[in-house]
Amino acid sequence: MEIKRVGVVGCGAMGAGIVQVSAQAGYQVTVSEINETLLNRGLGLIENILAKDVSKQKITQAEKDSIQSRIKGTIDMKDFAGCDLVVEVVIENMDLKRKVFAELDKICPPQTILASNSSCLSILDIAMATNRPDKVMGIHFFNPVPVMKLVELVRTISTSDETYNTGKQYAESAGKTVVNTKDTPGFIVNRLMVPQLLNAVRMLELGVASREDIDAAVKLGLNHPMGPFSLIDLIGVDVVCFIAKAVYEETKDDQFVIPTLLQKMLTAKWLGRKTGKGFYEYK
Ligand code: CAA
Repeated sequence: MEIKRVGVVGCGAMGAGIVQVSAQAGYQVTVSEINETLLNRGLGLIENILAKDVSKQKITQAEKDSIQSRIKGTIDMKDFAGCDLVVEVVIENMDLKRKVFAELDKICPPQTILASNSSCLSILDIAMATNRPDKVMGIHFFNPVPVMKLVELVRTISTSDETYNTGKQYAESAGKTVVNTKDTPGFIVNRLMVPQLLNAVRMLELGVASREDIDAAVKLGLNHPMGPFSLIDLIGVDVVCFIAKAVYEETKDDQFVIPTLLQKMLTAKWLGRKTGKGFYEYK
């Protein structure tokens, strides 16, 4: 199936990134938010990134204008009716995701592929809110979307070959390298990364080293682009805790138990970059 029009439900940091790379790949993109304020904020994120790309001469002003002309914002889900593929990027809440998918199932024509960007939830559980589980898959991007090369493609036992191949074509056309993963808690990356992040917090709790030294050690000793505390702040304390909890509930693997410090930061709403304070402070 050929994809021409892509829909994106949600225009937070991840949604905005997916809109940008899709429009940059030449797709017509419709993006929705729950109100005009959030929509304008999301479209503003895209404007800022593209304006920076123009100032760095990565793209021309004409290319920026052409990318933005392919993006249509809306607060009405009915505008997804003309989309060939819709990617859902709402918060990690199963009830909400199932509600969004049930609504998309009513609005979109039967051939439309519905994908979730969930980082850890069961794609099959989401798919079963629709009457087209064969047309549902996971397309999991990484933060920041325009920079990170990977997309995890998640296939449930119901996903058809055609759906999977179309999702793969779409992600590759957006410049991403794909890996195929089963519909398991945390897929590949989060199953590996989250225990490492939680261990760093446990080391901090034990007083093994300061957050700065642990970050420097991982950056310089392992050649990671950022240390675990900077990374938690980038991803969001809430998102890390959510993934840890979701994987723990499914696997009962102690590696995913949330350390007390992280739980307290969640309660205090020290969520990282998005709230201006996490392990570090941000202006
Ligand atoms: N959007 C678009 N581009 C961005 C960006 C953003 N939000 N943030 C940074 N960039 C671009 C910059 O414009 C810059 O581009 P150029 O090289 O072309 O100038 C480039 O990325 C490097 O940025 P900076 O120089 O500002 O800073 P940096 O070199 O420290 O890189 C970083 C920043 C890209 C975030 C890098 O530190 C990094 O790759 N960190 C690791 C990120 C990571 O691991 N992400 C995965 C998180 S897990 C996840 O997403 C899955 C999940 O389910 C939770």
